[in-house]
Amino acid sequence: MTDQDTTLENLLTETRSFQPSPEFAASSNASPELYEQAEADRLAFWAEQARRFLSWDTPFEEVLDNSGAPTARWFADGKLNATYNAVDRHVEAGNGDRVALLFEGEPGDTRTITYADLKREVSKAANTLESLGVRTGDRVAIYLPMIPEAVIAMLACARIGAPHSVVFGGFSAEALHSRILDADAKVVITADGGYRRGKPSALKPAVDEALSHDDTDVSTVLVVRRTGQDVAWTDGRDQWWHEALEGASEEHTPVPVEAEHPLYILYTSGTTGKPKGILHTTGGYLVQSAYTHWYVFDLKPETDVYWCTADVGWVTGHSYVTYGPLINGATQVLYEGTPDSPHKGRWWDIVQKYGVTILYTAPTAIRTMMKWGADIPGEYDLTSLRVLGSVGEPINPEAWIWYRRVIGGDRTPVVDTWWQTETGAIMISPLPGVTDAKPGSAQVAVPGVHVDVWNDAGQPVGPGGGGYLVINEPWPAMLRTIWGDHERFKDTYWARFPGTYFAGDGAKFDEDGDVWLLGRVDDVMNVSGHRLSTTEIESALVSHDWVAEAAVVGASDATTGQAVVAFVILRSDALEAAEAEGEKVVGELRNHVAHEIGPIAKPRSILVVSELPKTRSGKIMRRLLRDVAENRPVGDVTTLADSSVMDSISAGMQASAGD
Ligand code: PRX
Repeated sequence: MTDQDTTLENLLTETRSFQPSPEFAASSNASPELYEQAEADRLAFWAEQARRFLSWDTPFEEVLDNSGAPTARWFADGKLNATYNAVDRHVEAGNGDRVALLFEGEPGDTRTITYADLKREVSKAANTLESLGVRTGDRVAIYLPMIPEAVIAMLACARIGAPHSVVFGGFSAEALHSRILDADAKVVITADGGYRRGKPSALKPAVDEALSHDDTDVSTVLVVRRTGQDVAWTDGRDQWWHEALEGASEEHTPVPVEAEHPLYILYTSGTTGKPKGILHTTGGYLVQSAYTHWYVFDLKPETDVYWCTADVGWVTGHSYVTYGPLINGATQVLYEGTPDSPHKGRWWDIVQKYGVTILYTAPTAIRTMMKWGADIPGEYDLTSLRVLGSVGEPINPEAWIWYRRVIGGDRTPVVDTWWQTETGAIMISPLPGVTDAKPGSAQVAVPGVHVDVWNDAGQPVGPGGGGYLVINEPWPAMLRTIWGDHERFKDTYWARFPGTYFAGDGAKFDEDGDVWLLGRVDDVMNVSGHRLSTTEIESALVSHDWVAEAAVVGASDATTGQAVVAFVILRSDALEAAEAEGEKVVGELRNHVAHEIGPIAKPRSILVVSELPKTRSGKIMRRLLRDVAENRPVGDVTTLADSSVMDSISAGMQASAGD
């Protein structure tokens, strides 16, 4: 963590503090007493949130059963339905006319969907899934752009207790295939395509390719017509979503499930090549998603217009687009496209048009907007904004200040929220109206959550010391297992410090007791807030005929946080061709990674080398490669089997930079 420590020194000189305004504090949902209540009796506190934020078909008696640790059971004797909580009860309470989704397509088409509309659409979709043979417990894969059907499909699954597995639309056919197979999905819900950067981009061909292996149990593919582009059709398997839903009844009774019934599987990258299917269950997950959404964003459902820019393909889209906000009866914007289509002011145009009051986005987006310049947001009226959130990676103080000053008019609280796919919901964050905000720090665990920073020996390091972030009490939204691989679940999270959750992040407490996140301590990279595994990209490279060996590192990048940099050894026969073809080889390998995993995993640069730095036991020393990739003097090479290797790699890097 040496390189991170240097950054930390800079961070810790950050002394600016932003007190909540008295007006905000006076009407904020959160109060200092929340911490006191949680501290006084943590389980009673969570039970109170569970009763307050959710409606239960069968009330729970037991709050936490941790006898099967590390798999905790929360509210396990209670029964409920996620979709009833997110949709029906708002209609029953007389809020059916409230807008749930303000959809803005990239080409500028719009749809306004009320809670009553949502209930009708979700019921039709649930009836359709049932008529296709989907039963409680069956898995459904969802591979869609950011259109209302993505939310509707998720809620339709949850309505019948069929766990969904959403696969980000930017993932490749190969990635989709392995996820469909691992989750053993029966139905895939997709679209002909979506709009991206001003053009229709196809999705259905990836589904066709994924299913061409003929090794899955998928019997039906439901296809939403979004772009109208031509699609290949497999009769007997493929059905248009609109045709399938047309005759379906608008009445559907939500299926009450046990609190520990699986709600969804979401795949995320780990340190080995195979993505992990993170399993979340119903009750605890929904409690913490709704509770954090309420307090961290200070949601006022009657007046706020909330917008989380995350795609539903990521956990942020699960907890803070679909479940948290809808359970709280929020009105939210759903935007299909990219921030620069058709112009770089598109997001701010949307904020102005809908009067967005709460914005939740990622540091990479903020840094990109900074690069584009303050003049662009300056052209729009952003005075409706009152809370700004950040998630996905550490936010550097400059970006934090810019966000508050340029976007928030120096008025809005900024909440930097730390959490993970595995944690299910926000774990560390300031509470607006309560916490004095400190740029660059996620600050404090939310009430009811306990985190600490430990050294290698598993001892708390206390203020000023760096170490590993751990979570030392079970929390309601925690993952319950890795789908189909319980051993991996135990090894990955619970073995480093037996019985305590190891997050995989480095962290430090400052003198005020605020937490600073320092990035991953394992082979997981964070590119534009997206988690990628070095091993997975290395495997993708090695799967190409030309590549003998590959090493991948995450090099720091001013905009994307980290960028993928690869070092490859080519097979001797490929080498000659490579020398003749020059850059084309690199281009081919970059495209190969995009094909295997998805464009987000495409290396920023690939350097062809003749050897990789290895220890005597054969372990690749990625730390040294990171030095080269970040243009730093190469660190200690004494443990290398051949210490001259780094000289030639550094020389190669310099030569390629000079090209
Ligand atoms: O390294 C941390 C970083 O993102 C990782 C989790 O990634 P993922 O499961 O894809 O979930 C992202 C959205 C919740 C963490 O292990 N991370 C997330 N939020 C922050 C962060 N790092 C620093 N500060 C944050 N606010």
